[in-house]
Order: sequence, then structure tokens, then C-alpha cells
Amino acid sequence: MKAIILSGGKGTRLKPMTHTVAKQLLPVANKPILFYVLDQIVESGIRDIAIIISPETGGEIKKAVAAGPGWDAEISYIVQEKPAGLAHAVKTARDFLGDSRFLMFLGDNLIQDGVKKFVSEFESKSADALVLLKEVSDPRLFGVAELDAAGKILQLVEKPKEPKSNLALVGVYLFKPDIHRAIDRIKPSRRGELEITDAIQELLNMGDKVESHILSGWWLDTGKKDDMLEANRIVLDDLLKRDVKIKVGAGSKVEGRVAVGEGTVIEGSTVRGPASIAPNCKIINSFIGPYTSIAAGTVIENSSIHHSIILENCRISDIEHLTDSMIGSSTTVTRRKSVSGPVRLFVGDDADIEL
Ligand code: G1P
Repeated sequence: MKAIILSGGKGTRLKPMTHTVAKQLLPVANKPILFYVLDQIVESGIRDIAIIISPETGGEIKKAVAAGPGWDAEISYIVQEKPAGLAHAVKTARDFLGDSRFLMFLGDNLIQDGVKKFVSEFESKSADALVLLKEVSDPRLFGVAELDAAGKILQLVEKPKEPKSNLALVGVYLFKPDIHRAIDRIKPSRRGELEITDAIQELLNMGDKVESHILSGWWLDTGKKDDMLEANRIVLDDLLKRDVKIKVGAGSKVEGRVAVGEGTVIEGSTVRGPASIAPNCKIINSFIGPYTSIAAGTVIENSSIHHSIILENCRISDIEHLTDSMIGSSTTVTRRKSVSGPVRLFVGDDADIEL
């Protein structure tokens, strides 16, 4: 069994953040989303992985993976020249896939408890494809499955205006090589892309067996800002363990499930978990509240931050109540006049903000 991770795309919905960073590298609890995906694939026993990259952000993805913690797997890269759809990405990977069964994982998706049980189930079954479904509040944003009373898939439609159910297709799919034949038979959709949803529908038309599982645990599709904050909240809540690698000074408190990296200084401050503070940060006279992740080298002084993601090498000074925010790397946020009420920011890298 092989795996492909789709890490192309423009990240349009996460601009301005994705002007400078590939969306799959945005951190959740101080770790790139793509790294969780790699962890989950390796945990499932798959050792042969190709990451599909775009010409724009591919170099950055390769660099990040090379500098990562290392995975017990053979990782290769395939360039998809244009963002022509998920089924087009599978086409691009056809030489790599040969006639293997494979797992396809969208590099900005995360699911609770990983993919191990689905991979072993698929290996032991005769189905031609296995898809994961999850109930969502607005199915029009996704591929949608219609099931019969026995749970058998009747129809799959990509982003329908009038969805027949609230079951979205999760970005994790298992295929036998027959999917290539189905992809060869489909035409680009209205948005001009070769949709994997249409290819799976084509498998059904061809009489192939497509099975589905409805996920009960969480599924995170980190394509938008609120999803990133939600992903950060859920991952901090679910996966973070207390791991404080520094000596906290007498004037400070670090409460609950908090991770603090080496070289970080916390002075006159309270950090209340779940929260993650990377190495070499400075937290001075501040309050870092629950569901906050602060990346390496960031300085926070005389400020209070809740439910936010702050990337590397930022400086945040004198902000009384920063919340629900995502701030790109090397950005400074300072206060000039007094600001009443909470401040919510969504800014990219290298910005300079004076409130
Ligand atoms: C893609 C698929 C869609 C699926 C979604 C999951 O959508 O086309 O069927 O439900 O991923 O994340 P896109 O990210 O291209 O909007």
C-alpha cells in the first residue's frame, strides 16, 4: 500500500497568511498540519509516500519536511504543474502509484485517531474504494454523499447547491487502482477541475464497490482562519501534554497542560493551559490564556492573549486583550492609544500594526 499527500493549492481562503506560507505548513499547536498527516500515515504502516506539490510552494514544503523530526518512510515529491483538481493530482502520481492500492490524504485535513484502522480494514476487504464521511453544518462547501437506509452510497456530488444530506466527504480516501480508469472517464467540473468526487461517482457508475464510514471523532479541514483556530483549540485540548522545559521564575505561574520549549523566558506572567509556547520566546508581564500557540522567537510583553495562533519572531506589546487572532511571522503589534475591548486580528507575515 502506498500513500499520496496533496500539498499543492493556493490557500486562497487563508490569505494573507498563505501569500508567504503553504497552507499545509501553517502550525496547529506549534506543529505544521502536514507533519500530523505524515505521522498518521506512518502510524498506519505505510512506508512509501509521495507528496504532491505545486511549483509555487513545493520548495518550501520539501525544506520543511527535510528539517522535520524525520519519519520512518520513503518520502518522494511529485510536482503538479497546475491546480487542476484532486483527480488530476492522482493522474500526476500515476507512475508512482503503479498498480498499488493507495491512501490519498489532503495535506490540510486532520482526523481524530488517525487512519490506521481504515487502512487495515481496506487491506483486508474487497471494496474498490473506501471514503470517510462526516456530518457538517454546511454541506454545500464539500463533496456530499447520499446514502440509502442501509448506509450504501447512492450518489456523490461535489459542492451541491441543494445537498441531499449533511454528510461531507472527508479529505482521506482509499483506492484500488481501478480509480485510474474512472479518472480517465471523467470531464472537468464547472470550476474547471477534475474532481475526485466525480471519479468516485464514476466508480459507482462502473459497478465498482465503494464503501463508506461516518466519522464520529473530529475532522478538521484547516482551509480558513476560523478552522485554523478551531483546529488549534481541538488539538491543544486533545493531544497536548504538560511539558515545561524551562525553570519558571518565582513571579510567574504556568498552570495546567502547557508546553514550553527550551530557551523561553517567562517573567511576571501567567500561562494557563492548554497552551503551547515554542523555544526561545519571551513572555514578560503578560497573560497567555487557553487555546493559544506561540511559535519560536516571539516576544509578548504587557499583553493578554487568548484563543490565538502567533507565528515566529513576532513582537506583541501593550495589547490588553488580543483574542481569536492569527498573526503571521515577524509581525509587530503595538499600542499607541488606549484600546477598549477585545482586539481580533488576522494578519500575514512582516506586518507592522499600531493600534
Ligand atoms: C475537496 C474536495 C471535497 C472534500 C474536501 C474535503 O474540496 O473536492 O469533495 O469534501 O476537499 O476537505 P476543496 O478543498 O477542493 O474545496
